[in-house]
Amino acid sequence: MTVTSAILLVGGMGTRMQPLTLTTPKPMLPLLGKPITEHQIMKAKEAGITEIVLATSYLSEIFIPYFGNGEKFGIKISYAVEESALGTGGAIRNAAAHLQGGGPVMIFNGDVLSNHSLTDQIAFHQSQSADVTLYLTQVPDARAFGVVEMEGDLIKTFNEKMETPPTNIINAGCYIFNRTVIDEIPEGHVVSVERETFPALLARNARVAGFIDNSYWLDVGNPGALLKATRDLIEASGHTMAQGKGSSVDPTAVVDQGSYIGAKATIRAGSQLHQCVIGEGASIGENVALTRTFVAAGSRIEPNTVAIDQFFGFSPE
Ligand code: GDD
Ligand code: MG
Repeated sequence: MTVTSAILLVGGMGTRMQPLTLTTPKPMLPLLGKPITEHQIMKAKEAGITEIVLATSYLSEIFIPYFGNGEKFGIKISYAVEESALGTGGAIRNAAAHLQGGGPVMIFNGDVLSNHSLTDQIAFHQSQSADVTLYLTQVPDARAFGVVEMEGDLIKTFNEKMETPPTNIINAGCYIFNRTVIDEIPEGHVVSVERETFPALLARNARVAGFIDNSYWLDVGNPGALLKATRDLIEASGHTMAQGKGSSVDPTAVVDQGSYIGAKATIRAGSQLHQCVIGEGASIGENVALTRTFVAAGSRIEPNTVAIDQFFGFSPE
């Protein structure tokens, strides 16, 4: 059976992303002018997913006007809004009730970018006759992640964020769950898939398969990671900067190191922007020098401003 349904977990607070997430939920932060969620939705669609439920909680009202019913994106989108956050497992259970299909479900953490093949992960899930399949990757320092121990293709232990990880193989934040596994999660309760569901499945010897893939992977968990994601995408297309529609950069300005200039933004003479993200319609005055700095949509930066690792215009009024 092929996988055509998906759930996107987009309800986290994005605390480590402040101040960018004071008014925008982390998955809605723009990456090359489009929400991280949109990048994920397009990837899912390419792999044959036809319906997606966004499991929202914090700032849920921001998603709905942008994605609507998904028609604009060529995929069916609906929303499961948690009045108070249900945790990753509770969110999956709650969102699954909104799916039309009854088959296995692809589940995405809302802040992960990856080049792994969803089609290959689906084929692997089927060839393993797995109950759940986790996409895994390897990192030098696994302490901030869920870490697994394997036996062949099957996962034997799952350990969420520990000081002394037993391996460097981590949960990369994209799962396939058979529907029966989702139906076993208690309804309306706060449940963590990482701390409760996975350990419980392993304790009763369920088939939890591990699809290891070491192609590009990034958890966009803090502002530095968002700058890196922007730079990586721009450099992958062979450029040093990218511009949204209708933006203008004075010919004497220097914009490089994977900077992104939002649509209709203006960069005036003599300015230098190194690895910066400039929001839509922002205006950067003459001789401004910014490094690794975010400028919110619509903000104005005074001439001669110099800043490194700063955020302009993100605090709520
Ligand atoms: N709907 C909903 N409700 N979504 C939630 C909730 C909730 O209560 N809590 C978290 N989420 C969403 C977040 O928005 C995010 O997209 C995803 O679940 C994971 O939460 P994070 O807060 O980003 O977790 P993490 O990065 O510390 O760890 C997770 O991701 C790692 C890989 O990036 C874990 O899954 C780790 O095991 C994993 O290694
Ligand atoms: Mg994360």
